[in-house]
Amino acid sequence: MPVVACSGSLSVYGARFVRCAVIESNMDAPPPPSRWETFDRRSSEREALVASLDPIVAACPQLSKAKSCAMIGSGYGHLDLPFVKGCMPNVERFAAVEPDADQMAKMRTNVAEQLPNASVEFFQETAQDWKGCDGERFDVVLLFHCLYYVPALKRDDLYRKLFDGVVATGGLVCILISPCNLEEPTTLCRLLGLTTAERYLDGNRVGAKMAEAGFREHYTTSMDCHLDVAEPNDDIMKGMSRSTGGRMTPEAIREKLHELIGSDRYLPDTMFFGVYVKP
Ligand SMILES: C[S@@+](CC[C@H](N)C(=O)[O-])C[C@H]1O[C@@H](n2cnc3c(N)ncnc32)[C@H](O)[C@@H]1O
Repeated sequence: MPVVACSGSLSVYGARFVRCAVIESNMDAPPPPSRWETFDRRSSEREALVASLDPIVAACPQLSKAKSCAMIGSGYGHLDLPFVKGCMPNVERFAAVEPDADQMAKMRTNVAEQLPNASVEFFQETAQDWKGCDGERFDVVLLFHCLYYVPALKRDDLYRKLFDGVVATGGLVCILISPCNLEEPTTLCRLLGLTTAERYLDGNRVGAKMAEAGFREHYTTSMDCHLDVAEPNDDIMKGMSRSTGGRMTPEAIREKLHELIGSDRYLPDTMFFGVYVKP
């Protein structure tokens, strides 16, 4: 039964009536998708990741034996959960680290449905602020589409924290990013002009920084995927505008998109996936 709350005075009856109706319809409607869900619904990243799981498992047998896993920047588990389910059948203990309350709430629901027997601790925190689980170590740490949101100056500290206090000896860190570099910019980087030092993140650079922290590169691969940009696409133009920090308006992104892919329906992208071992 929806609750109808009204405010206002009789002299603005029309406005008061509209306000009542809006509140009532919000109570019935499902919550709007988050910016991440909007993107995920149009992206083939999950299919691309799932299609790569067999070679990843073959190259990284430690995954199949892992008993514990921390998913950092887990969101609602869009990519993390299929990876866990496809590669790590023996994990009993999880940590999910995610700063956004709504994403975390959805992650709790998804974990309850998809990993009903696992023990999971939830930390509503950023990667850089998370202190770990009282010194307990994890066999596997996932950082899927998370590193961009950790300020560039704090990423090295994060890698060191993982090495010193989070990952077990012999354990793995799996990193998934949409790489961005000036030498070989992907179409997505060209579209969004993502060439600043803050956003400049590619497999070689991540590998070098992980090595400085003490990790050894174990396996890398790339995965081709695409984003469906078919019209109407205001949702995705707005989301992309937000991810440029407002530097580009949705209209400017639409124009640039047309310049790059003409009337094509799909914007191609490539993901980088790297696995690093703590010796
Ligand atoms: C693109 S989503 C990726 C979610 C999930 N890992 C996946 O691949 O499907 C990025 C997530 O990182 C979270 N995030 C933002 N800033 C973060 C930070 N500083 N540390 C950790 N996570 C962060 C966002 O709230 C969001 O849920």
